[in-house]
Amino acid sequence: MTDLLLLPGDGIGPEVIAEVKRVAQRLANDLSIEERPFGGISYDQSGSPLTDEVLAEAKAAKAVLMGAVGGPKWADAPRDKRPEAGLLALRAGMEVFANLRPALCFQPLADASSLKRELVEGLDFMIVRELTGGIYFGAPRFIETLPDGGKRAVDTQVYTTAEIERVARVAFELARGRRNKVHSAEKSNVMDSGLLWREVVTDLHRREYADVQLEHILADNAAMQIVKNPKQFDVLVTDNLFGDILSDEAAQLTGSLGMLPSAALGLPGTPGLYEPIHGSAPDIAGRGIANPLAAILSFEMALRWSLGRAELADKLFAAVERALENGARTPDLGGAMTTVQMGDAVLAEL
Ligand code: NAD
Ligand code: IPM
Ligand code: MN
Repeated sequence: MTDLLLLPGDGIGPEVIAEVKRVAQRLANDLSIEERPFGGISYDQSGSPLTDEVLAEAKAAKAVLMGAVGGPKWADAPRDKRPEAGLLALRAGMEVFANLRPALCFQPLADASSLKRELVEGLDFMIVRELTGGIYFGAPRFIETLPDGGKRAVDTQVYTTAEIERVARVAFELARGRRNKVHSAEKSNVMDSGLLWREVVTDLHRREYADVQLEHILADNAAMQIVKNPKQFDVLVTDNLFGDILSDEAAQLTGSLGMLPSAALGLPGTPGLYEPIHGSAPDIAGRGIANPLAAILSFEMALRWSLGRAELADKLFAAVERALENGARTPDLGGAMTTVQMGDAVLAEL
């Protein structure tokens, strides 16, 4: 059985996953690791961004770690064949409905954020993004041509009680092991799906999690509060689209999009999908300057959440922290290190 299936993908994906491979070799060389094409590179090779074989292997592995997918090269590919469609199909196929995106500011990076040091120093909150439902997957979706020659595009936001409840449960459980506070963000003031979201979260809280502090917040206000006073958050649970947007915003609090890992989890006993939250960064791809820490920290989360190696995860986390303390910085963090040099800096601390 494969412990870790690597899907490097496109753009800077292979560059950052190469550093994960070096770290994994040093830290846990008994792990069985496989690598498969995924995203644009897979589309080029086989006409599909996610082949049935790769999806089957992903579902059979203990954990899957991807780099990033997409890029201008595939902008004109049919929508259902685009690299991003492969990623959505992977998330849906693996049924990883709860996406944990930590917004954590490493002490040495408190000045790398575009926010003032006092706002981000010691910051540690967790966004729980619903990942397999909502407007990303809702039907119908289409673009049609109208009689007047104009067009009409439709996407559908849709959630069921069960979908909301299972992701909210993950948020409440996480909060119990943290600072015991959940914010639930939606737009119940304008959207029916937001109204249902609020109802279901309220009901679950009353039935099973009354010991956890719950606050409902409108998603637009959440976006503002994240930059006004981010330390008020402990766990923030929200839908697929709001979670996508709010997590990029939160990433910048931590200094760079190149720092933020994520873990997408399904039901207990099923494999997790680990991915940096950044994309393929076409603007810097091929130059060897991408920050590999989001990918390395995604591996750290895989060790912790899927591979049963919490002690190795602790060790890796501490090594990243020390590398940063010692001044390791790629250009996104205001430094001049290459991707490989950042990998070296982490390895040196292991
Ligand atoms: P992006 O995350 O790729 O890049 C945004 C900005 O952040 C760029 O300036 C980039 O250089 C910088 N950046 C990102 N990761 C970095 C890293 N590790 N180190 C240093 N700088 C980094 O987002 P985008 O430009 O909006 O999207 C580019 C492509 O990636 C699109 O095709 C998009 O669909 C795709 N995408 C994929 C994923 C994924 O695979 N999980 C996530 C987001 C975007
Ligand atoms: C992310 C990305 C993806 C998303 C895209 C590439 C499909 O932005 O993982 O945050 O929107 O979920
Ligand atoms: Mn995103």
